[in-house]
Amino acid sequence: MKRVLTYGTFDLFHFGHLEILRRAKALGDYLIVAVSTDEFNERDKHKQTVYPYEHRAAIVAANRFVDEVIPETHWGQKAEDVKKHGVNIFVMGDDWKGKFDEELKGLCEVVYLPRTERISSTNIKQSIRDGG
Ligand code: CTP
Repeated sequence: MKRVLTYGTFDLFHFGHLEILRRAKALGDYLIVAVSTDEFNERDKHKQTVYPYEHRAAIVAANRFVDEVIPETHWGQKAEDVKKHGVNIFVMGDDWKGKFDEELKGLCEVVYLPRTERISSTNIKQSIRDGG
C-alpha cells in the first residue's frame, strides 16, 4: 500500500485544491493531508485565513480523496511526518519545486505537481474585496 502526504493551508477550498488532492491520491492508495494551523499561518507564513483551522481541516477531511488529516504546526516537521506515517510519496504543487528534495532525500519519493492555473485563495479574497 502506497502512502502519500501533502501540505497546505486550504483556505476557501477551491478547484485548485480539489485537483491537487485528486492527483495526489492517484499516485497511491492512502492520502494524508497536513493542514496548516492558524498559529503557523499567522506566525510563520504571515497569512491570515478566512476559515479557522477546525473548518479547513473538516472540509479537507470530508473530501473523498482524503484518508487522514494531520496538523501542520511548523516548517521543520516534514521528515518527521514522513517517518512517523510511513509515507512513500511526498507531493506538493510546483510553486514549491525543488524546495524539499534535500530535506527528504533517502526518506521518500518527492513529486511536484503543476498548479491549476488562475485560481488561488489569495485571488478569491482579492476578487471579493474588489466586489467580485
Ligand atoms: N494548489 C494548486 N493549484 C492552485 C492553488 C493551489 O495546485 N491553483 C496547491 C498548492 O500548490 C498546494 C495546495 O494546493 O500544494 C495547497 O495550497 P494553498 O497554499 O493552500 O492554496 P493557494 O490557493 O495557493 O493559497 P494562497 O493563495 O493563500 O497561497
